Amino acid sequence: MSQPSPTHPAHRAPDTAAAEADPPFGPDLSIGAGTATPYEDYVQASVLTHLQHLQSDDPGEMVFLVTTQVMELWFTVIVHEWTTAADALRRDDLPVAMDALRRSTWELEALNAAWKPLARLTPAQFNAYRAALGEGSGFQSAMYRRLEFLLGEKSASMLVPHRGSPQDHAALEKALHEPSLYDEVLRLLARRGHPIPETVLRRDPTQRYESDPAVEEVWAAVLAGAQDSELARLGELLTDVAELVWRWRNDHLVATRRAMGAKMGTGGSAGVAWLEKRARKNVFPELWTARSHV
Ligand code: HEM
Repeated sequence: MSQPSPTHPAHRAPDTAAAEADPPFGPDLSIGAGTATPYEDYVQASVLTHLQHLQSDDPGEMVFLVTTQVMELWFTVIVHEWTTAADALRRDDLPVAMDALRRSTWELEALNAAWKPLARLTPAQFNAYRAALGEGSGFQSAMYRRLEFLLGEKSASMLVPHRGSPQDHAALEKALHEPSLYDEVLRLLARRGHPIPETVLRRDPTQRYESDPAVEEVWAAVLAGAQDSELARLGELLTDVAELVWRWRNDHLVATRRAMGAKMGTGGSAGVAWLEKRARKNVFPELWTARSHV
């Protein structure tokens, strides 16, 4: 990230540095002088911190916008981890897949903690800038949609809001047709000798994943077996992911219920009633139902 600076004692030839009475303690202030700092080159902080275009005069809007932007960044990181995990599973590289999934659980924790500043918005506080949002809604988040697609929650109709943004639309179209993270997990289970039905292995990846009794039996056998086996640990890691996604959905639901009761959403849905239905969906369903049979 930073290039050595010839003027800083730490970066001079050893004999010159030795001649200095005191070794350097503070940072080298000459780094980046006269040009963008190496930090700026890497982080692009000046871009990131100038993307807050507020739509109202309400002082509470800033944290609403920034929380949303922070969550978009976390969605991006998590999509990256799950794509890494899916690719690794396809190559039978379980250690790389498990590392990416484990990192994603910590990132999901951080994502969920980001609800804190919005969790207790009152309707009067939210109303102060709600109208300024127009028809904007998190429902239109392309990165969140990719995250849901990776979980197996596919839906071609969810591409419709993005038809005006070719880049987002193309990324979603690709993700729609690719096997989800869970599809890759089930293919791996089959390659390891577990009886996953052909109908599941050859399913149309553009369709939402539906729970299957034979897959439930496979997970029940894995979860009942050696607790330290690779597949049992993979099953628990996926359950952690599923639980944390469920928590995000529920924290969103409760924050929405507090901030706007049963009003319609800015994205045109029934609001809380629609979000309740979404939150009821089980991520990796058989990993939950199999537990009754262990
Ligand atoms: C307390 C503030 C918030 C309220 C009142 C709220 C309200 C809603 C409502 C009513 C919907 C349903 C769709 C609609 O008709 O608009 C929705 C969907 C959504 N919101 Fe929020 N939201 C809030 C904060 C956030 C934040 C900070 C994010 C972060 C990106 C977010 C992301 C989403 C996503 C991804 C959906 C779609 C969920 C799905 O497809 O299942 N929301 N929101």
